Amino acid sequence: MTPRRVTLIRGDGVGPEVTEAAMRVLEAAGAAIVWDEQLAGKAAVKQLGTPIPDALMNSIRRNRVALKGPIETEVGIGFRSINVALRKAFDLYANVRPIRSLPGIRTAFDGVDLVVVRENTEDLYSGIEHQIAPGVVESVKVITARASRRIARYAFELAVGEKRRAVAAIHKANIMKLSDGLFLNCCRQVARSYPRIAYREVIVDNACLQLVRDPKQFDVLLLENLYGDIVSDLCAGLVGGLGLVPGANVGRRVAIFEAVHGTAPDIAGQDRANPLAVIFSSIMLLRHIGQDVPAARVERAVHRLLGKTRVRTSDLGGTASTSQVTARLIELLR
Ligand code: NAI
Repeated sequence: MTPRRVTLIRGDGVGPEVTEAAMRVLEAAGAAIVWDEQLAGKAAVKQLGTPIPDALMNSIRRNRVALKGPIETEVGIGFRSINVALRKAFDLYANVRPIRSLPGIRTAFDGVDLVVVRENTEDLYSGIEHQIAPGVVESVKVITARASRRIARYAFELAVGEKRRAVAAIHKANIMKLSDGLFLNCCRQVARSYPRIAYREVIVDNACLQLVRDPKQFDVLLLENLYGDIVSDLCAGLVGGLGLVPGANVGRRVAIFEAVHGTAPDIAGQDRANPLAVIFSSIMLLRHIGQDVPAARVERAVHRLLGKTRVRTSDLGGTASTSQVTARLIELLR
């Protein structure tokens, strides 16, 4: 296998711990990857004086694939979210988050198997906010037909590619008649080209209720940016939490893989973070670059770890550390 160069951003908080775990596991699985490590966020400000160095952007542009740890975004102050900036710079318009029940993880539901497809470039994340008078601010929600049709097409193509049966567009067009109305119209238009995939629309608050009642009624969820962000965490909760759910930010040229979770400041630096979410994201990365054999090996090892051993971090009710989970996975791979 020819080695593939992949940009690596370790990130903040638990990022360095969990990305290190993923790199070691991938190596043990025989993945052919040469890591091109770059700084971003706080670490980059400290060493290079800017949160998004040119070297980082050039590296991603060159390699077209990256594995990224979570990056801190300060609330209300500080530099703009690096995550949002990267998604915009590389036009990573689709955020894809597979949500699956896993062996050995007991939750209220079995057999959950859905994919959250979230529009990643616009909506309230456009960052257009201003004060129009003291005590009055506006935050602008931008929805375009182009981005809505593009994400809808992505969701339907994913449904076809993964032999899934249904797409549900999640919205609040009863209140946001123009913006969410436009999004829905685009979804409907696209749905007409896919007669074999069932299409329905669910208002976002009802979708949350339905998801925690019977998640198996859903297959592919198609959402704007903000609803997608919130519903992703809810969906993570259905299958065991943020420590398990992977994600990919995909554009036409570049894809950046990362866990759904953030920097987990409450447990950072304590060797307690669950590395499995980033490891699952790395499995998606391996498949994206055509390394299906090591991807399947890592997946089998994680399933054996969860299904057959009690080695798990405290978010899953265990007592193992990040390094113990990593070491056991490497053992299972050998
Ligand atoms: P968070 O996901 O960091 O933490 C939420 C809760 O989940 C915490 O109790 C944490 O301990 C737990 N948790 C998260 N990941 C875990 C793991 N791997 N193992 C075990 N437990 C885990 O969300 P929060 O607190 O809202 O955000 C913290 C920071 O992360 C913020 O600065 C935020 O902007 C940033 N963030 C970055 C993301 C990214 O880079 N993609 C995504 C989400 C948040």
